[in-house]
Amino acid sequence: METMANTLVVEKAKTSKIHEVDFDNLSFGSTYTDHMLVCDYVNGEWKAPKIVPYQPISLDPSAKIFHYGQSIFEGMKAYKDRDGGVWLFRPLENFKRLNKSAKRLAIPELPEAYFMEGLTTLLQLERDWVPQNPGSSLYVRPFMFASGTGFHASPADEYKFIIACAPSGAYFSGKVKVLIEETYSRAANGGVGYAKAGGNYAGQFYPTQLAVEKGYQQVIWTDDNNHEFIEEAGAMNVFVRINDTLITAPTNDRILDGVTRKSILDIAKSEGIATEVRKISVKEVVEAAKNGSLKELFGAGTAAVVSPIAAFGYQGVDYDLPELENSYASLLKQRITDIQYNRAEDKFGWRYKVI
Ligand code: COI
Repeated sequence: METMANTLVVEKAKTSKIHEVDFDNLSFGSTYTDHMLVCDYVNGEWKAPKIVPYQPISLDPSAKIFHYGQSIFEGMKAYKDRDGGVWLFRPLENFKRLNKSAKRLAIPELPEAYFMEGLTTLLQLERDWVPQNPGSSLYVRPFMFASGTGFHASPADEYKFIIACAPSGAYFSGKVKVLIEETYSRAANGGVGYAKAGGNYAGQFYPTQLAVEKGYQQVIWTDDNNHEFIEEAGAMNVFVRINDTLITAPTNDRILDGVTRKSILDIAKSEGIATEVRKISVKEVVEAAKNGSLKELFGAGTAAVVSPIAAFGYQGVDYDLPELENSYASLLKQRITDIQYNRAEDKFGWRYKVI
């Protein structure tokens, strides 16, 4: 064990698994690096983080994560440029959102230095795991959960914050067909939809399974009141292009404040694309599909970046999106990944050098 100047303790793995990994054929999020960061909340405070060999964690069966679901996470990526430099994209946004989620789930907030220094040191140690192949990156998964015990339905007194990393390829291969949801909801007013709470994703699985049985891959979530407005696409924010205007729903307590979402909006504006942040009714999307003004529909998130939608289903009818030569989706994906992989000037100041 060696202790670093900033009190971050690093216990290095005795051997590396890196030679077992086929970096030319990476799936998404299923192979893990040699180390992970662990930070414990005990006796009313977050203790200094440690970097340890990647390993299983042991929990008491009464740990409150299992019973009351106090669990939140973030999704980030580390990118390698052609010179071997490693970069993060707007990591402070993830840190701020982690604490926003923590607050909503009555989990104690984490100090910024623990997140930023822990993350940077972990990635410096794992730099060889950051893939350089086009479209690949190191997916970084910070997460936090109640490790404290007890069947009493109240916040736990102990928590763990962990960062695990997975060299990853694309999240989706190709375009997806989605179903506009009319029965189930992802989030409700006053609920936890804006937080990156594990339960938000658990609640999506069953309606998504039903959609998959009907031949779709993902669900477009609509508001919980009347299923009148479109809100998110699968585990991503959603964008609609009607004629030449790019529209996305405003964030609120049901919609995640996606880092990719807000970056795409800024990039679109700087490209001279007309943008609108407003409620988008299902009726408007269906009418636009019928009259030919619906040009594009795509999801945006860290994992999938920009995920174009080929067709959507609503009330038993499927509507195809046109195949465009110069889509906003491909332009915006190109622009954002050029910044992320240090292939272009970063006029927004979003790139963060790891090493
Ligand atoms: C991400 O885009 O990073 C997310 O957090 C979505 C996740 C469910 C893969």
